[in-house]
Amino acid sequence: MVSLLILGKGDTDYSDRNMQRLFTCAQEAGIDVQRRDYGEIETTPDFKNEKIQVLLFFPFTFWNANCEVPQDTKLYGTSKASYDLFQRFFLERQEALNERYGSSHKLDYVIQPAFAALDRDKVATVEQLQRFDVPTSRVIESRDISEILDHVAPERGVFIKCRYGAEGKGITVLHHGIWRTNYNVHEGKLDNYGTYGTWTFTDITGKRELLEQLLEHEVIVEREVIVPEIFPGKKFDVRAYVVNGHVPHLFARVNGAERVVTNYSQGARVLHHPETGLDEAYIESIRKEATKAARAFSSRFLGVDIMFDGNAETPRVIEIQTFTDYPDPRKFNLVKYMISIPT
Ligand SMILES: Nc1ncnc2c1ncn2[C@@H]1O[C@H](COP(=O)(O)OP(=O)(O)O)[C@@H](O)[C@H]1O
Ligand SMILES: [Mg+2]
Repeated sequence: MVSLLILGKGDTDYSDRNMQRLFTCAQEAGIDVQRRDYGEIETTPDFKNEKIQVLLFFPFTFWNANCEVPQDTKLYGTSKASYDLFQRFFLERQEALNERYGSSHKLDYVIQPAFAALDRDKVATVEQLQRFDVPTSRVIESRDISEILDHVAPERGVFIKCRYGAEGKGITVLHHGIWRTNYNVHEGKLDNYGTYGTWTFTDITGKRELLEQLLEHEVIVEREVIVPEIFPGKKFDVRAYVVNGHVPHLFARVNGAERVVTNYSQGARVLHHPETGLDEAYIESIRKEATKAARAFSSRFLGVDIMFDGNAETPRVIEIQTFTDYPDPRKFNLVKYMISIPT
């Protein structure tokens, strides 16, 4: 028998709902389970079983207070210092867990604390995936504007994304003859929109000084992925869930091509498997690369976002979601799936 510790708390009822549903479902299944926030580890009571499975959730309180708007760079998603804080947070909480339970229990992490922050560094994520032979987006190392613009062709542009960002915020795309950013352009400077909601794109074509500003910050520069025409006029990516080395569910996120990003928070429509319209070659490729990506992150539970560059033979893992949102339970009940798989 294994006990379960669910760690973390949402900053709204909405962001708290997955942890709460998991907790309720575990209770109903008769599992010895507790749910606590990260600050409560020291006072969490004992568990019934020797082995405690620990399931980490996103530390909203810590992130909002320390990382969302960086103290140093002020520009969303560009602060190494904020990332370092975030990474250290998990290691410190792991130490607290060791102190609290190390002598009486065995701790078994579904998401490894040492890997918990990694997906928030897009450069390190690409490097880690490549070490495990997972196909990724193609990175451009140069930070010279003219050299970067040399990569912009009529058929394929360039993406510049903040290195430590998420949710489709802080994205700039250079297409042939049209440059756009979804940072807030304010008095000739790049600035942030609010934490929640849509980050609207602004036309910045020809404004080299804005690109110069952006490239002084921590960013990742990538060649644009051109998705196959499965949804005409649209762009899509796929979110695959990996649980214990299997992919129990996936869905496509589809957005108007002019919307640039396919994040749900930025207006994409979700099509759940098997209603994605993707044929078996795509599904096979998704399963293969998603499970490899999970191994690269030493994780038994994560989301993997994949785009296809032209056809089913060219998958590219665009992003890892260590703290993935859960799918609509009416389409796939991930909570139930997680609770009923043997531990
Ligand atoms: N190289 C790329 N080519 C085309 N589209 C991209 C590329 N990189 C990202 N995108 C689009 O932008 C979205 C956000 O990028 P992503 O790397 O996932 O950052 P975030 O952490 O903000 O979600 C993706 O879901 C995808 O739709
Ligand atoms: Mg993403």
